[in-house]
Amino acid sequence: MAIQRPRGTQDILPSTVGYWQALEKKMRQLAATYGFQEIRTPIFEDTRLFLRGIGETTDVVQKEMYTFPTGDDKDKTFTLRPENTASAVRAYLENKIYGQETLTKWFYIGSMFRHDKPQAGRYREFHQFGAEVLGSQSAVTDAEMITMIVQFFQSLGLADLNVEVNSVGCPHCRPAYREKLITFFEPKKEELCEDCQNRLYKNPLRILDCKNETCKKLSIGAPEIHENLCEDCHDHFETVKKYLTIAKVPFVINPRLVRGLDYYTKTAFEVQYTPLGAQSAIAGGGRYDGLVEQLGGPHTPAIGFAMGMERVLLALEKQDLLPKPEEEKKAYIVALGEAARQKAFAMVTALRSMNCQVAMDVENKSMKSQLKHANKIHAKYVIIVGDDELQRGEAVLRFMDTSEQETIALADVIDKISSLVKG
Ligand code: HAM
Repeated sequence: MAIQRPRGTQDILPSTVGYWQALEKKMRQLAATYGFQEIRTPIFEDTRLFLRGIGETTDVVQKEMYTFPTGDDKDKTFTLRPENTASAVRAYLENKIYGQETLTKWFYIGSMFRHDKPQAGRYREFHQFGAEVLGSQSAVTDAEMITMIVQFFQSLGLADLNVEVNSVGCPHCRPAYREKLITFFEPKKEELCEDCQNRLYKNPLRILDCKNETCKKLSIGAPEIHENLCEDCHDHFETVKKYLTIAKVPFVINPRLVRGLDYYTKTAFEVQYTPLGAQSAIAGGGRYDGLVEQLGGPHTPAIGFAMGMERVLLALEKQDLLPKPEEEKKAYIVALGEAARQKAFAMVTALRSMNCQVAMDVENKSMKSQLKHANKIHAKYVIIVGDDELQRGEAVLRFMDTSEQETIALADVIDKISSLVKG
């Protein structure tokens, strides 16, 4: 059997790559509007970065990482990045960015890898657009980040979005809340799903957003995080809500939104596009005030988000909103006979050096099939040169949209085509 691509990965062929390019262009514009600069970090990192950064008990670390030998060091392994926040923080520390600026705003676009069960909207290689702000403890930044995501989806025309926000507390208030949850769930332990039984003592907050129906029922009446926040977390959350209201961002408070990565503190949020079904989260993020320190750096409050580009494209497709790829105007030179072909080759070369998109036939095809090809590549202008034209020093210029034709001097072809294509 022929070799196939790995399960959960996709080929992005020329027929759809235009949608990706258009989406990426919009993402870059958005990032610039909000003052973010691009970073590109390695696709693989020292596995310890994710163990320490994402958390050893998370599903991502326990079940979903692609880990492999380094080839050099028997005591170390590498892992394909399952997300990019830990890598961004590593780069921030390794390059001592904290010593150079007080506020760092980075964005990234790239592949992430998780050994998840593939299904519609869930892949093993997927792409994220993400943004991270390092060095701000202001709740206004949290509101700004959520607003940025919402404005982006609105600019794409996406409707039916659900913006969920929550506060997951901080190292001051979370331990007591954790204990309350353990006390609440302990008597029901045997009824919880296997994952939640494991989570009970390691990360009981995760039980609150388990998708298992029994766990959902068992968590009715569980202690509420909002009643257990310390004053600082409470005030922070109030400010986030106030500024979201000022920005006219529609949101709902979901006290069960916990998120699957351990680094979050205070604000956590997710944007759902419900028509996508089970994989409806198209973006998610939150504050991670302890991560930089945890990875060995100075205390640096931070917040970020990432959106799944495949899911955004699926959502756009559902609403018939896929961005139209921009097509540049193209020209085609039909050459008939060897002498004409030599002339055409010289003209094509000159035009290409002027950045004009122009093509010609090199297989000695008939006039009909050359014109067919010109049509196929959506050439707007065609130059036809045969032996007769060549002798007269002329060429035929054909406008493909209208089928109108005119005769022009061979010497004018380059000027004419370049001004038409660029005009
Ligand atoms: P996350 O919620 O794990 O957060 O992923 C963010 C988004 O990536 C999800 O909302 C979803 O759209 C997409 N995504 C995740 N897994 C898959 C998958 N298997 N297939 C397709 N799409 C997927 C993070 O990754 C955090 N690093 C976000 C963040 C940045 N938090 C702070 N800063």
